[in-house]
Amino acid sequence: MTTAPIIELRGVSKRFGPTYDAAARVARSIARQFGTAQKNEVVHAVDNVDLSVTRGEVVGLVGESGCGKSTLGRMVAGIMPPSDGEVRFKGDDIVELPPDRARDAKLKVQMIFQDPYASLNPRLRVEDIVGEAPLVHGLVKRADFDTYLDAQLRRAGLDPGYRRRYPHQFSGGQRQRIGIARALAVQPEFLVCDEAVAALDVSIQAQILNLFMDLRRELDLTYLFISHDLGVVEHLSDRVLIMYLGRIVESAPAEEVFARPNHPYTQALLAEVPRIEARKRRFTAIKGEIPSPLAAPPGCHFHPRCPHAMPRCSQEAPRLREIAPGHRSACHLNDRS
Ligand SMILES: Nc1ncnc2c1ncn2[C@@H]1O[C@H](COP(=O)(O)OP(=O)(O)OP(=O)(O)O)[C@@H](O)[C@H]1O
Ligand code: SF4
Ligand SMILES: [Mg+2]
Repeated sequence: MTTAPIIELRGVSKRFGPTYDAAARVARSIARQFGTAQKNEVVHAVDNVDLSVTRGEVVGLVGESGCGKSTLGRMVAGIMPPSDGEVRFKGDDIVELPPDRARDAKLKVQMIFQDPYASLNPRLRVEDIVGEAPLVHGLVKRADFDTYLDAQLRRAGLDPGYRRRYPHQFSGGQRQRIGIARALAVQPEFLVCDEAVAALDVSIQAQILNLFMDLRRELDLTYLFISHDLGVVEHLSDRVLIMYLGRIVESAPAEEVFARPNHPYTQALLAEVPRIEARKRRFTAIKGEIPSPLAAPPGCHFHPRCPHAMPRCSQEAPRLREIAPGHRSACHLNDRS
């Protein structure tokens, strides 16, 4: 078995800034003349992330709202270019590949979204939603299309008899199955699931999570699983990443994160979770407000909320480093041992 990464991120950052179109430039130059210019408002949504995902791994990504999970997921899926750094699929930097190979690489990484209704075109029939991309990309011949489509629908747990229906004729769980069938129809190797079960009832969530795990075995899939629900992440993931204001602050095997959280932020997240009520391991607000990503605190971003903060913490950003085999954490407290 090969252990080469299927996805590798090297120093990946994403900044969202003021737009640099002509009108915005003129407005800014006028504002400067009159001394009313605002500071450039740049959001560091993702800040210098390194990540390596091995084939077959399920990596969970958790963190509070706005910390950059979806932005990171979109860059992994190749639908948003990074501002800095490289996203490599099986060793290749997608932006450096010739167009046809870049297109193939992008098809191999598919994204599944939280709200299947918003991501499915309401005017298309299921057969077009699921079947269009494989036809366009030549993954299936016209003559074999019907058989191919039925197989895709069946695999996602949908009755092929419903192929001529529209998204609004399905329940939330079934719509998510349509989204899954659409993603799988282009024969991906990697799925980025962004809050893919968050909008569903708990019983339906379990069915969709089981489907993901069955598909993992059946199709040898690798996952980046973004979720607010620590219960989902704990049960599904081989490895968990904890993200705070654009940075990965802890990365460890799932059971290790829950049994021996190292980073004070991870500890705070887990402390807020009632351990007995395992099904509802969602984030509740931890002490202190989440700082605006427009003005992330210097040094360790977590220092204004951290019960262990030292003077050094507001000056120097801690490096994510290995503290035990396979367990990495970014906290100055680890330098003491
Ligand atoms: N297209 C965009 N333009 C400008 N800012 C953006 C854009 N997309 C995201 N951001 C900002 O980047 C930061 C990270 O957003 P992102 O959606 O990645 O967070 P998230 O962790 O997925 O949050 P949530 O849990 O609410 O989905 C936020 O401050 C957000 O406002
Ligand atoms: S580096 Fe300092 S502020 Fe940051 S988590 Fe560690 S102790 Fe807290
Ligand atoms: Mg998001």
